[in-house]
Amino acid sequence: MDKIQMFEIGLHSYCNRNCGWCPNSKFERSTYKELDEGIFKKLISDLLLADYNRYIGIGRYSEPMFNNNLLRDRCEYIKKHLNVTIVVNTNGDYLTRRNIEDLRVDHLAIMDYDCIGLDKCINKLKSSDIEIQKISYPFVYGRTKTIESVLYYIDWPKNKLLRSKIDKRFKRIQKCLDPVRYLGVEVNGDVIACCDMRNDNPDCKDYIFGNLYKESILDIIKKSKYLEFVSIMKDGLVLKYPDICKYCEKGPSRYTGDDPGYIYK
Ligand SMILES: C[S@@+](CC[C@H](N)C(=O)[O-])C[C@H]1O[C@@H](n2cnc3c(N)ncnc32)[C@H](O)[C@@H]1O
Ligand code: SF4
Ligand code: SF4
Repeated sequence: MDKIQMFEIGLHSYCNRNCGWCPNSKFERSTYKELDEGIFKKLISDLLLADYNRYIGIGRYSEPMFNNNLLRDRCEYIKKHLNVTIVVNTNGDYLTRRNIEDLRVDHLAIMDYDCIGLDKCINKLKSSDIEIQKISYPFVYGRTKTIESVLYYIDWPKNKLLRSKIDKRFKRIQKCLDPVRYLGVEVNGDVIACCDMRNDNPDCKDYIFGNLYKESILDIIKKSKYLEFVSIMKDGLVLKYPDICKYCEKGPSRYTGDDPGYIYK
């Protein structure tokens, strides 16, 4: 657990959008299911036992603000028990003054998926009582009383290099440390070691290392199957990587790079 920088939790499964670039366009996320509260609390108590104090992401392939009461409640609980930084990415569809009031998230990133542009994004921030601190296209930086940093990523699809699905013409050269630094939990309790892998993608079935409804996170990270995968990825011999990784174009994310933080590099 000492190498993990980002622990991502899917509190619920639902996303209101179906963006063409997102795996949600291929795998269904229109059914609402929740991670059981008891399982969530056990996970948080295990992370406390492991002295986990880095980033907790809320999301996986859901829209976390869709159920804002759940988000608020679970963030309160995390903040009460762990000394971590909570980060949330949102499509902004549920961004209102009321929804972010008292929300105990540290970094909130809002994606301008519809390319509404700078002026409209600024208006959206202002109408949600977010104090704007700096504008440096394509980013607008702000804050609220409880959120240390709000980042609006303007015109995201125009500015972001989108990853494609597995493309066998692409050959990975760089090693990927995400499995060393990332752990994710899906709403059904499945534990995964990469934010690009999903438990509903058959290509990823061998990379589900355990399930929180049956075993604890502390037991899952001791399993030889998990440790072997992490070790292969860490060694960086791409020829030994599984196919799903050999042809994967993803680089480190904001929180799995050498210098994690909310700034996009
Ligand atoms: C899966 S979303 C979940 C949270 C929220 N619904 C949202 O879209 O912000 C988390 C992040 O994955 C990114 N993402 C999804 N598909 C991508 C792709 N093909 N290439 C690069 N980033 C992608 C999204 O832009 C978002 O920042
Ligand atoms: S809003 Fe986010 S999770 Fe939903 S489909 Fe779009 S990129 Fe995927
Ligand atoms: S190479 Fe791609 S699929 Fe494999 S662990 Fe890294 S990000 Fe995930």
